[in-house]
Amino acid sequence: MNHKNNAAISITGLEKIYSNGFRALNNIDLQIPRGEIFALLGPNGAGKTTLINTICGIAQPTKGTITISGYNNITQYRKARAAVGLVPQELSTNAFETVWDTVTFSRGLFGKAKNRLYIEDLLKRLSLWDKKDEQIQSLSGGMKRRLMVAKALSHEPEILFLDEPTAGVDVELRKSMWVQVRDLRETGITIILTTHYIEEAQEMADRVGIINKGHLILTEDKNALMKKMGKRQMIFVLREPLTKIPSELQDYPLALTTDDNGGKLILTYDTDTENDISDVLDNLKSNGIRPKDIYSHQSSLEEIFINLLGIK
Ligand SMILES: Nc1ncnc2c1ncn2[C@@H]1O[C@H](COP(=O)(O)OP(=O)(O)O)[C@@H](O)[C@H]1O
Ligand SMILES: [Mg+2]
Repeated sequence: MNHKNNAAISITGLEKIYSNGFRALNNIDLQIPRGEIFALLGPNGAGKTTLINTICGIAQPTKGTITISGYNNITQYRKARAAVGLVPQELSTNAFETVWDTVTFSRGLFGKAKNRLYIEDLLKRLSLWDKKDEQIQSLSGGMKRRLMVAKALSHEPEILFLDEPTAGVDVELRKSMWVQVRDLRETGITIILTTHYIEEAQEMADRVGIINKGHLILTEDKNALMKKMGKRQMIFVLREPLTKIPSELQDYPLALTTDDNGGKLILTYDTDTENDISDVLDNLKSNGIRPKDIYSHQSSLEEIFINLLGIK
């Protein structure tokens, strides 16, 4: 480990132009500190896999510098590559190999000395220990995915890349994957994942980078992003229909929707402005409005994303 540079990943001025002339990455600058879960979020074709493959040395950068744990990924390729484990988007395995053999072979590829205890612990952490002698073809989809993670971690890397770890899997499997990833982070590993599911970034990440058409549009602490871009709404479910908002309430950012059941009054406010809900409630009451229910709603990253990219 090279402690001179504290960042797990440091990227400056990265550009990738494929041999057919297609520009897949534009001037990317990105620092990822150790121990973080970073989600690279973007629609299909945004350049997520290209960025990951370029960092991991599978694709060559056209321009720019990438440092992994302080090692330049071209001039110090072997050390840089040894510091990362990659679970690629396209899973490929040898169906007839056993779990144990696959993972130990993978470790050997990195020239690491055998370490039965490490592999045993790894398989236990990923709930694969009782399957160690099974052939891969007998594993369920969820187990296969965990096996890919075990393979990627077999050589004890400091940084784990997960390219679309839950693309096309059912909700249950996705949630169990999220739990596994969080557990892995507890061991001190830096995790960089790509996803086109906003919910996944929202659930998993400490920090989110939004990528579109090869441009890293922004990187921000997830909570700060939610706070900055997110709107909070307080929704008052009305007992009786209201034809218009009473003039005494006109100073509040209220909107009215009506239906046969009475409709709703929706108060929209920024998450970082102090808004006294009890003040609004008092005013509703003195105007004869008694909500039968009150609930709040906060923008999801999806709504934020749509706002950012201006797509509807
Ligand atoms: N080998 C390649 N040659 C040319 N273009 C490519 C190649 N690989 C990917 N692309 C293009 O680069 C863009 C980004 O692809 P990719 O990084 O796979 O996006 P994502 O992972 O975000 O879906 C896409 O338009 C894709 O068609
Ligand atoms: Mg991809």
